[in-house]
Amino acid sequence: MPTEVDSELLPQLGLKYPLIVAPMAGGPSTPELVVAASAAGALGSVGAAYSNPAAIVEFADKVRQRTNKPFAINLFTPHPAPTVDAAAVERAIAATAGYRAELDLTPPHFSPPFQEDFDAQFEAVLRIRPAVFSFVFGLLAPEHTKAAREAGILLIGTATSPEEARALEDSGVDAITLQGFEAGGHRGIFEPDAADPEILLRDLLAQCREKVRVPLIAAGGIMTAADVRAAFAVGARAVQMGTAFLATREAGTSAPYRSALNVPKRKTRTTRVFSGRFARGIENRFMTEMTPNMDAVMPFPAQNKFTRDLRGASTAKGSADFLSLWAGTGEGELWQGSTAELIDSLFAE
Ligand SMILES: Cc1cc2nc3c(=O)[nH]c(=O)nc-3n(C[C@H](O)[C@H](O)[C@H](O)COP(=O)(O)O)c2cc1C
Repeated sequence: MPTEVDSELLPQLGLKYPLIVAPMAGGPSTPELVVAASAAGALGSVGAAYSNPAAIVEFADKVRQRTNKPFAINLFTPHPAPTVDAAAVERAIAATAGYRAELDLTPPHFSPPFQEDFDAQFEAVLRIRPAVFSFVFGLLAPEHTKAAREAGILLIGTATSPEEARALEDSGVDAITLQGFEAGGHRGIFEPDAADPEILLRDLLAQCREKVRVPLIAAGGIMTAADVRAAFAVGARAVQMGTAFLATREAGTSAPYRSALNVPKRKTRTTRVFSGRFARGIENRFMTEMTPNMDAVMPFPAQNKFTRDLRGASTAKGSADFLSLWAGTGEGELWQGSTAELIDSLFAE
């Protein structure tokens, strides 16, 4: 039984349950969700990747006003900005012009920077000093690892293959989230343009548990108490769950997104059309219509910035047609009550 595992995830954290409620940047992560998760004895996570330093500090203040329990802050590790030439931007604008007209949007003024400045975000994290800093898309630079250590912040990286897990261990992380192909949201693959190794969670755990010494956290398609037990049975020291929490009261998931989730047999697949990086979500109109047109999709994070107005306008209209409906392969109705009740139910036996 999960609560009886003899070694905790990271004993310093003093968690009641070996569960991380996933960071979910772009709306679902709210201070309320992080507080509810951490107060219930799991580790809540701030999905801060799209937030500027001031917003990260404000978010963390809101969490700290309501709980003194540990929580994590999560960011995307930086990569060199991709080159996006004028022709690529023109193709992207032409391919989406009909959608922008439909949503009453003006043609975008599109220019770099395509994402928040990582160093500035990381400075904010150091000032906040959360118990855990978790990250995805690669390794943390040695100077950042050193600075986090000096601030007493534990580090959790994300791997989608045994090679990535080994590299993370060598870089000095305290634990590794193994993200199976089932997982909702962005795939944590280090190289933005690499093929997806598509390793399912069970296989990934089997491939890593003999080779990696730091604690392994299982992520991808975990929805029920039985799924949690199955992950522990194959070597996980904790689980990280995102999709299962998307419809809880405290999640910031928008109304059209909630409606799309509220279908017992959701059809998900991975796609690059929203952000330029592979991510798993529920199939919708934008995914279906853009997939044959990958020439008109820019690299990450340019595409992510380029589609932001479409997603915003789609939400405002109450339509799920142009939203990135990130969700894992897990089936069944999602829990719509409180986060605390869901957490208790996962470890009730
Ligand atoms: C809506 C959504 C947003 C996500 N955003 C992030 C993020 O900002 N950072 C991150 O490390 N992982 C993110 N993930 C991935 C989760 O960390 C985790 O790997 C995944 O939720 C596990 O699969 P599951 O959704 O089937 O539980 C996100 C997942 C979802 C569903």
